[in-house]
Amino acid sequence: MRSLKKFGFVVTVLVAGWMFAATVTPTQAQTVTPDHLHAILAASAADPQPMGKFVGPGSCSASACHGSVTPRNTTKVLQNEYSTWVTEDSHARAYSSLTGSLGRQMSAILKIGPAEKARRCLVCHAISASEGHSTAALDVSEGVSCESCHGAASQWIGPHIQSTAKHADMVRLGLVDSKNLSIRSEKCLTCHLGAPGLHVDHELIAAGHPDLRFELDSYTQTEPPHWVEKAADPLFGMRAWGVGQAVQMRESMLRVARDAESGPWPEFSEMDCITCHHALTGPESWRQKEGYAGHRPGDAPYNVSRYVAFRKFAEEVDPATNHELQGETDKVAHLITTMSPDRAAVISSAKRAASLSDKLLGEVQNASYDRDRTQRLIKSIAGEGDLISRQGERAAEQATMTVDSLYIATAKAGSPSAETRAAIDALFMQVKNPSAYNAPQFAAQMKRVQLSVR
Ligand code: HEC
Ligand code: HEC
Ligand code: HEC
Ligand code: HEC
Repeated sequence: MRSLKKFGFVVTVLVAGWMFAATVTPTQAQTVTPDHLHAILAASAADPQPMGKFVGPGSCSASACHGSVTPRNTTKVLQNEYSTWVTEDSHARAYSSLTGSLGRQMSAILKIGPAEKARRCLVCHAISASEGHSTAALDVSEGVSCESCHGAASQWIGPHIQSTAKHADMVRLGLVDSKNLSIRSEKCLTCHLGAPGLHVDHELIAAGHPDLRFELDSYTQTEPPHWVEKAADPLFGMRAWGVGQAVQMRESMLRVARDAESGPWPEFSEMDCITCHHALTGPESWRQKEGYAGHRPGDAPYNVSRYVAFRKFAEEVDPATNHELQGETDKVAHLITTMSPDRAAVISSAKRAASLSDKLLGEVQNASYDRDRTQRLIKSIAGEGDLISRQGERAAEQATMTVDSLYIATAKAGSPSAETRAAIDALFMQVKNPSAYNAPQFAAQMKRVQLSVR
């Protein structure tokens, strides 16, 4: 239905793009001479953080630039990035979600006035330039647009279209280096997990906001990508998964520390949602049958989903550091689960866990990725189905996205298996209705995934 609804929107925006194309061509940008570029770079070197200004997606949408309707093969890039974003990418609709029925419901419950005017929402649903940071009045209705991910463009928009433009120079002028998977994940997670000043807490969730979950490779495929990955790396999907997991682990620990530092506590969005939000099934309850390992019956456990799958890979890459990370994560989880922990102790363990994750991130980035390693990892994660299933629905969901990403990577590298594909599809069904999540059934399906990998 979404595709039908967006049709009217697409037409208007594309027309706006064409009008732009007709009136503004990149000639202004072409007048940047190599000498001029040198001068700009010298000035930016003197100012280590050049304050670029936002110019808006209309500056990218000329058909000779990124607004072609179909992909081209005359330059290094596809040139239809704008069209892909505007027609297929939900980021282009991030603002209109604020004015839709769910946005309205949230505005009413939270008493924040129209959500599309609330800074609390716009920080993630649009380019939210602070005063003086935009060249023209920014149109927030364009949602999450090019510069939300690629960085404010005023300094690099001219230079970047030169045939001699070097990526590293553009990065010095403020282009976000999203070719670097760690920087890329960090950027996505500012909105998809949270960052200072950008929060989706349980108050927003209770008002109707979807809970935030993320896995770089799966989310990239869903976006969908408007670029062709340049790395000639057949296991690229696994690399993206690994780096994304390490960054996600680090950022989630920093978020715990921030939540413990200020604001309402315990912050329910740090905990396993479904432990509070499932239906009561009486004596047949699998929860009662399995017992409550690791916490007092009735306490809400910490949501460990961002560690369950990553931990198996971290173990392979650097067992000693992973051992320490496991220790700190256990402390965080144990403290939070007691509901009224010593906040200082949470902060100190969470920060230590974040720095251990950062160390692992460096190693994960330099690791080698091949088919055997990927197959082995799918098998070992699927082999922990029992343990993972008992860590809650969110953990099960993260493990599902993981085996899916890893399986797709191996299939692309030449090992497709109809049996594994079907087993993973059935795994997705297990997490489709979170409140009806059943750990023993999930574990049994994981076993089928494990057995299907040869
Ligand atoms: C500036 C904030 C921001 C950044 C940065 C960002 N996103 Fe998003 N993303 C959003 C918002 C807001 C939505 C919800 C859009 C809507 O209203 O439908 C979203 C939605 C999505 C969806 C659709 C999810 C679904 O349930 O269909 C995917 C996939 C996605 N983002 C992937 C990414 C990836 C990959 C990156 C990094 C390369 C990224 N996002 C960076 C804010 C952001
Ligand atoms: C930390 C960043 C962040 C903040 C702050 C934020 N959102 Fe979102 N919002 C997102 C992301 C990311 C998604 C997509 C989640 C997904 O599907 O994985 C989203 C999705 C939504 C959706 C569902 C869109 C759809 O159709 O699927 C609505 C509605 C929404 N947000 C409204 C709001 C409102 C209203 C506020 C302010 C009260 C707000 N958001 C604040 C990041 C944020
Ligand atoms: C949600 C984040 C996000 C948004 C929004 C976004 N991009 Fe991208 N874009 C990426 C990522 C990630 C890559 C892949 C890494 C890279 O090449 O920098 C990429 C790649 C590209 C590339 C290929 C670069 C190359 O050297 O191969 C172009 C061109 C591009 N984007 C243009 C745009 C334009 C134009 C818009 C707006 C219409 C846009 N992007 C919106 C995240 C985003
Ligand atoms: C410690 C228990 C606890 C945890 C953990 C928790 N919640 Fe809640 N949740 C509540 C309570 C209490 C309410 C308010 C119920 C009321 O007022 O009727 C609520 C309300 C909600 C509501 C609105 C109620 C409704 O009927 O739709 C949603 C949605 C929700 N929570 C989702 C989540 C999600 C998603 C998470 C995990 C990120 C989560 N909750 C974690 C206890 C919890």
